[in-house]
Amino acid sequence: MVKIIAFAGSGRKDSINKKVVKVAAKGAEEAGAEVTIVNLEDFNMPIFNEDLEAEKGMHEGAQRFKEMLMQSDGFLISSPEYNSSYSALFKNAIDWASRKLDNEKPLEAYKGKVAGIMAASPGALGGMRVLVTLRMLLENIGTMVLPTQKSVAKAMDKFDENGQITDEATEKALKNIGKQLVETCQKLKA
Ligand SMILES: Cc1cc2nc3c(=O)[nH]c(=O)nc-3n(C[C@H](O)[C@H](O)[C@H](O)COP(=O)(O)O)c2cc1C
Repeated sequence: MVKIIAFAGSGRKDSINKKVVKVAAKGAEEAGAEVTIVNLEDFNMPIFNEDLEAEKGMHEGAQRFKEMLMQSDGFLISSPEYNSSYSALFKNAIDWASRKLDNEKPLEAYKGKVAGIMAASPGALGGMRVLVTLRMLLENIGTMVLPTQKSVAKAMDKFDENGQITDEATEKALKNIGKQLVETCQKLKA
């Protein structure tokens, strides 16, 4: 069975990106994958610093996050757009999980994996610009990114007060990213 790790690049309690990634995760589950949704805040990763790593070794939360990525076939990521790019929370997690223990291969968490990417913002562009930087980053560390992506504009208007999606076209597009991710992973595993 295809295994997917899904997460948002925001740790905010009421994050719109957390809601968006959940919809895509549902699409992946409906396509037959085992999906684990994680909250990056839960790993409590300190800001990466090579001195800290040399002194204390791999951070326990970072190692846990990295192992989850290593054991998966693909990722669903919805990123907020902060000043046209991704959040520090997201990049910090990516940097930590790019560090290897002696028994691991370089970039083992990322190489050969596939990602479906999304962005959501209250603005009219829906965080479209972060998708460019996100795609570039992931491809550079060995993760293939699906050509189909989705930025959700005026995202707060597309969910109700219980966090359920209300806009049918957006729901369809997000679920389709989940489905395409699973189908691509299945083909790569075959
Ligand atoms: C530091 C900072 C920079 C931001 N820059 C942008 C931006 O460039 N484009 C945009 O559409 N929204 C921008 N926003 C607004 C975010 O899209 C908004 O806060 C969004 O809700 C964050 O995602 P979240 O709900 O998943 O936490 C920015 C917010 C912060 C805090």
